[in-house]
Amino acid sequence: MFSMNAIGYVRSPFQKTTEVPKGLGAKHEAEGILEIREEFGAGLTDIEGFSHLIVIWAFDRSSGFDLMGTPPSDDRPHGVFATRSPRRPNPIGLTVVELTGRDGRMLHVRGIDMLDGTAILDIKPYLSNVPSERLRRGWLAEAEERAEKRI
Ligand SMILES: C[S@@+](CC[C@H](N)C(=O)[O-])C[C@H]1O[C@@H](n2cnc3c(N)ncnc32)[C@H](O)[C@@H]1O
Repeated sequence: MFSMNAIGYVRSPFQKTTEVPKGLGAKHEAEGILEIREEFGAGLTDIEGFSHLIVIWAFDRSSGFDLMGTPPSDDRPHGVFATRSPRRPNPIGLTVVELTGRDGRMLHVRGIDMLDGTAILDIKPYLSNVPSERLRRGWLAEAEERAEKRI
């Protein structure tokens, strides 16, 4: 068993699951805020250098799971671990968002698909598969550059 504590909550325009765009071609461009709890605020230090973030969160309004299911983007069933279904053994969601700004403990982001009030479990910088022209690697790129100069 694992016990986790929310580090913050999502402020989203979506109140109901039916409001979140779904299916083939659905675009996730909704803007929202990741509001981090005061006790975890120092953990945001240097985050603004990153263009995209991985947000790990809890499907807190979903219960139970199905090992097979038919997602909105197909008419054939697939195993839960081959989909992004909210009905999974461990109800963990993962969304890559674009960081558009920071105001203290409020991270302004684009690309959310979570409901308003969703509990955030963790945030990590996104470092792969983002088109290179849009990717900023923040302090890591600077550290790599410094190391190269030392060689
Ligand atoms: C298909 S899942 C994908 C979520 C995430 N991008 C992932 O890959 O883990 C997205 C759907 O989860 C549902 N959802 C969003 N927030 C939720 C929450 N807090 N509890 C339960 N379901 C939620 C909405 O119906 C939304 O369309």
